[in-house]
Amino acid sequence: MNPLTSVKGMRDILPPASEIWNQVEGAARRVFRRFNYREIRTPLLEETALFARGVGEETDIVSKEMYTFEDRDGSSLTLRPENTASVLRAYIEHRLDQQPGVQKLYYIGPMFRRERPQKGRYRQFYQIGAEAIGSDSPAVDAEVIALVLAILDEVGITGYELLINSVGSKESRARFNEALREQLKDVAPRMCADCRRRAETNPLRVLDCKVPEDQPIIDQLPSILEYLDSEDREHFRRVRELLDDLQIRYTVRPRLVRGLDYYARTTFEITHGALGAQNAILGGGRYDGLAEMLGSKVAAPGIGFSIGEDRLVMTVEQAHAVEAPPLDLYIAPMGDVASRHCLVLASEVRKLDLSVEVGTERKLKRMLELADKQGARYTLIVGDNEIATRSYTLKNMASGEQTTLTREGLLEHTQWLK
Ligand code: HAM
Repeated sequence: MNPLTSVKGMRDILPPASEIWNQVEGAARRVFRRFNYREIRTPLLEETALFARGVGEETDIVSKEMYTFEDRDGSSLTLRPENTASVLRAYIEHRLDQQPGVQKLYYIGPMFRRERPQKGRYRQFYQIGAEAIGSDSPAVDAEVIALVLAILDEVGITGYELLINSVGSKESRARFNEALREQLKDVAPRMCADCRRRAETNPLRVLDCKVPEDQPIIDQLPSILEYLDSEDREHFRRVRELLDDLQIRYTVRPRLVRGLDYYARTTFEITHGALGAQNAILGGGRYDGLAEMLGSKVAAPGIGFSIGEDRLVMTVEQAHAVEAPPLDLYIAPMGDVASRHCLVLASEVRKLDLSVEVGTERKLKRMLELADKQGARYTLIVGDNEIATRSYTLKNMASGEQTTLTREGLLEHTQWLK
């Protein structure tokens, strides 16, 4: 019988790599606090209708990539492929619109999409994201983008590119969709099957097509920026003006319509050269109207982003080596009596907030080798003599220096730890 392995596209994150994940998440949480965002945790399972309505039936995510199954009571459930729709659902369900001010919420957790796995693309992947709900002010757009950049800065990433665009209001987009539909009448028959269908159902999604042969045709299609109404234009102008005030560099990319249907007005993405084909570290945008699509009676304009944490971690790994945290103390007990003694001793030392490992090998030499391999800063050898005299010899592994400490000297303060 072959041993079982993890499911395709899903992976284990082992130490020491898990350390980098924790560091990245810690950095993000620090920045979220500075921007006054608070954490929201939503379930991994939602009703399928939430994503069908929110993300859009014609998107790749909903039409091809969701893990959907029928529950025992016949209801259709889906493992969340993204979290914006869930956060909006929670916002509506718990009447967060009645709370004072813009609701600024962040999340960190796994998402599920059944895509073809490759470098930087997994079927279970992680996002660090945030949503600011309750305002359509361009100032919120600029602040959300500043927040994203502050996170990248906090984790030490440089060399990325910020791309921005506006996909306009629902009305502007409807006019653009009509124009696309017209143009696509002639060219769609030469395009892939998805494009031929989308040319009819949701022409905007043709712009997401990744098929290389279709790209020259897509390049000839009109730009959405030409279809913005005056309010959309003014909104976009003000967002750019505020980004300029913040000295944030960006490139306007009129093809950036993003692969989810809920976007309105500002959209953005950040790419990084170190990532290869899957080069988007994060994506985001405004979604005015999504709350109403999900059945809200009150408008809840909002904007947010999601960072692909797997890709962020990859970029951090490439930028600088991250060291595993050191082991403070390795205790080597010699014999069964000493083992019992050391278990208690270790639990006392841990109260000083130090990391302690107690050896389980029979041979002292082997334990000292292990202490060395685990990068222990100090070792303590404990035998019958030490127990009787209640004093221990502490060895500094870097310098080789040895000191004798009483039990009290070891436990009362950490002065011995240099
Ligand atoms: P998205 O562009 O679908 O947007 O995903 C955001 C990021 O998640 C991507 O830029 C990428 O880094 C990462 N990502 C997506 N799929 C995978 C995958 N299969 N494997 C690894 N990483 C992946 C959203 O999800 C929106 N909810 C963003 C948003 C929030 N818009 C407004 N608020």
